Parts: sequence; C-alpha cells; structure tokens
Amino acid sequence: QKGGYPHFMLKEIYEQPEALRNTITPRIVNELPDFTEDGIDDEVFKNLENITVVACGTAMHAGIVGKAMIEKELKIPVNVEIASEFRYKEPLINEKTLVIVTSQSGETIDTLEALRLAKRCGSKVLSIVNVKGSTIARESDYVLYTHAGPEIAVASTKAYSVQMAAMYLIGCRLGYVKGIYSEDRAKAFIRQLQGVIPVIEETLKQADEVKTVANYIKMAPDAFFIGRGLDYTLSLEGALKLKEISYVHAEAYAAGELKHGTIALITENVPVIALATQESVYGKMISNIREVKARGAYVILVSMDEEYNDKDVCDKHISIPKQDGLFTVFSAAVILQLIAYYTSDAKGLDVDKPRNLAKSVTVE
Ligand code: F6R
Repeated sequence: QKGGYPHFMLKEIYEQPEALRNTITPRIVNELPDFTEDGIDDEVFKNLENITVVACGTAMHAGIVGKAMIEKELKIPVNVEIASEFRYKEPLINEKTLVIVTSQSGETIDTLEALRLAKRCGSKVLSIVNVKGSTIARESDYVLYTHAGPEIAVASTKAYSVQMAAMYLIGCRLGYVKGIYSEDRAKAFIRQLQGVIPVIEETLKQADEVKTVANYIKMAPDAFFIGRGLDYTLSLEGALKLKEISYVHAEAYAAGELKHGTIALITENVPVIALATQESVYGKMISNIREVKARGAYVILVSMDEEYNDKDVCDKHISIPKQDGLFTVFSAAVILQLIAYYTSDAKGLDVDKPRNLAKSVTVE
C-alpha cells in the first residue's frame, strides 16, 4: 500500500509530479487554461470584481499563495478567510464576489458552513476539492476537482500542491477572460506551470541534503521560517507542517517583520529556514538573514542555484532549480515538506498519524 515507502507521507510527497500532471493537463486546451469539461462558465470570471477564498489549515495556506499570485499578476483583490472565522461574521461579500472554497476532503464542517453562508449572501461558489462527490463539491455552483488521488497521511502534501496549481489555473483563466492577460502571456504562464513538474522531480533529489538539516532541527524546541512575498506565503505552510508532525514549535514570519518583535527570540543555534526565491526582494532577504545570523541562528537557506552567491550567509544551503519566481512555491514547498517529514522521522514519531489530529474535521 505504501508502495515501498516507509510512510504514506513520503509516498505522497513523491507523488506530487503525477498529482500535478493529472490536475493541470486535462485543463489545457490549445495551450490555454480551459474549464469547459469542468462545466465552469467564463461568465463567472467576467462578472467578478473580487475574490474571497475560504478554507482551513493547509487548504487556507494554498489560498494565501493564490492571493499573492492573483493580486500581483491581475491586480484583482483577493481576500483569504479562515472558514471558522468567516462563518460566524457578516462577511463583506456580494454577488460580485467569487467565493473560492478549498478543501481536500470536501467535508470540513467549518468550510462547508462557510460555503452555505456565501451562497446566502448571493455569491457564486467555486470549490477546489479533491474527493469526488463530497458534500462541498455537491453544494458548490462550480467544482474544479484536483486529481491528487487519495491522501492518507494526516499531514497534507500533494493536496496542497494541486490546490496551489488549481489557484494558478484559475488565475490564468481569469486574467485571460478579463483581457488582463494576452493570449501569449496566458500561454507562457501555462508553459511555466507545466514546467514545475520536472522541476519538482529534480527537487526531490535533494532529499538527502534535507535529511541532514532535519537531524539538526530535531534537537530544537523552536524554529522560524522567514521569507518575503510569495516565499512568505509558503513559509506559513512550512511552519504548520513542522509543528504538526514533528512537534517542534515553529513560526512563519514575513522577514521584514522580525525586527518588530520576534528577533528577540533569535538566539544561539535557533534554526531559521529562510526562503529566498523572489528576485525583487533577494537583497532584502539576504540582509534579514545576516541579522539573524549575527544573533547566532542556524540558517538554512532555500534558494535557486544561480542566485546563490552569498556563500557566507547561511549554515546550510538547499538549492531549487532556476525558474521564474512566480512558480518557485511548488518546488520550495517540496523542500519544506521534506524538512517536516525527516524531522518527524528522526524523532521517531508517528509521521502519518500525529497526535490529536484527524484527517478530516467533520465536527466543530
Ligand atoms: C494539515 C492539514 C489540515 C487540512 C485542514 C483542511 O496538514 O491537512 O490543515 O488542510 O484540516 O482540510 P480539508 O482540506 O480536507 O478541508
């Protein structure tokens, strides 16, 4: 069942190229994103003025990545809401809002109730769901199924990647339909999105490097993930994954926020996982890294090979292949998942079934 892997989580991490291929490929027609087969009407994109993403946990983190990408590329406002908060307030949505509901299981109770509230407010609901025929899928106006296959490990990995891919496909179609993206731009975007698949295959070869990092992190009570822009949005998921399965307390910080309080916690040997894949803020990231390094942090830098020329800045470098910064979240996510996986395994924990957690949260 585990296909020769010691845990479902590792198997599912390695299944990501296939999961992404299965999710992306059927939605590409004539090199453009196309949701005809999914029954998603372009009118829904033409009419929207803003987007609200509602979800929990990892699925919500995929929404935050989607927000960063869509706002950067299309200048359309995207609001991301925690479903358990959204459902108990009077949400600022209306018929001009597209509500995107994201859920692997399609059964998370808070997400489902948020969906019902969104419909009562007159918004159209498009859900990104992995489980066919689940309640969230059935109650949505439109469904974009992710094709990750069953995810058994409690910690979500491949479902997260395909949720991000779904957000990217939606963003590209939206940009194209609204005339924000030219046909050429949309095609180039899709080529780059398809390009993440071989890049992830390449990234998985770093597993042994990551293992050595995990052997360091396993000794730490706390760890910090820092980044800027898309790297920051990804670091939220990196911290959650580490906490969830290795029980190392972890926090994600926008690198520029450190000096507003948290840097007080950076002392000798504290692991700081720094993501630096965003060219426009690379220099800023390097100075943030120097700041934590000066306070004794053990810095693990994740960046692209070619960009990595500040050799003295970190204790350990993990490289991801060169690619456009809009798409690095996919390969960097794999590194963060592997960090959490190997840390949990090195601590001898039950990787697939962390304490106190269930795969699907159907009670409040
Ligand atoms: C963390 C994790 C959870 C889920 C969350 C939502 O690894 O898996 O945070 O993402 O419980 O679940 P779904 O996506 O099924 O609605």
